[in-house]
Amino acid sequence: MIQFFGQKHPICTEYARFPVPLRAITPISAEQAKDAYRALSDPENINTYGKRETPYPGADCFYYPPFLNDVYKAVGDHIRQFLDFDIVETYYYARRYDTGNELKIHADRGSCFVSVSLCLGYDYSPLFPEGSAWPIGALEGTETGPGKPIEFQMQPGDGMLYPGCSAPHWRDMFLGAKCGQAFFHWVPKDDQVFGEYYGDPDKLA
Ligand SMILES: [Fe+2]
Repeated sequence: MIQFFGQKHPICTEYARFPVPLRAITPISAEQAKDAYRALSDPENINTYGKRETPYPGADCFYYPPFLNDVYKAVGDHIRQFLDFDIVETYYYARRYDTGNELKIHADRGSCFVSVSLCLGYDYSPLFPEGSAWPIGALEGTETGPGKPIEFQMQPGDGMLYPGCSAPHWRDMFLGAKCGQAFFHWVPKDDQVFGEYYGDPDKLA
């Protein structure tokens, strides 16, 4: 049984007013995902916008890459049907994971109150042949603490909508050659409580 010992962000109390379901979504087509994955794998884009970050050896990380801006808008339009409140953009981010990368269990910062993790595509390997999916696990929050783990199997174009600050999430070791994943974030439109997060002034990915 996986346990999560991290401390919850104080903004989590706001999920009572602004509930965000933990659920599978398919906000873009496989074809749109393919285009986005091509852009993410383009050596010129990697040179211009990509960065290396210490927890992810071999991965290319992109904070707010302009070539994903249209996808951010499309995903935002798609998730509004699952929310009974209006949302404001904070930021988005993408990562081109490498073999052996993993994601330790964690919950996100305040700018990620409403979040989508979206699979853009894979480069396969003998241990991760065509048609494979690299799952994401998440714990749905309950009144008394974290609920049971839910596993999301993602093909290109598939995503997970989740309450980023309250639902701990993780990924076990990736056995493929590359995986393109994008992370899109919003907060509820409420200037009083969430105004400080609009446009992600912290600029921390
Ligand atoms: Fe996260």
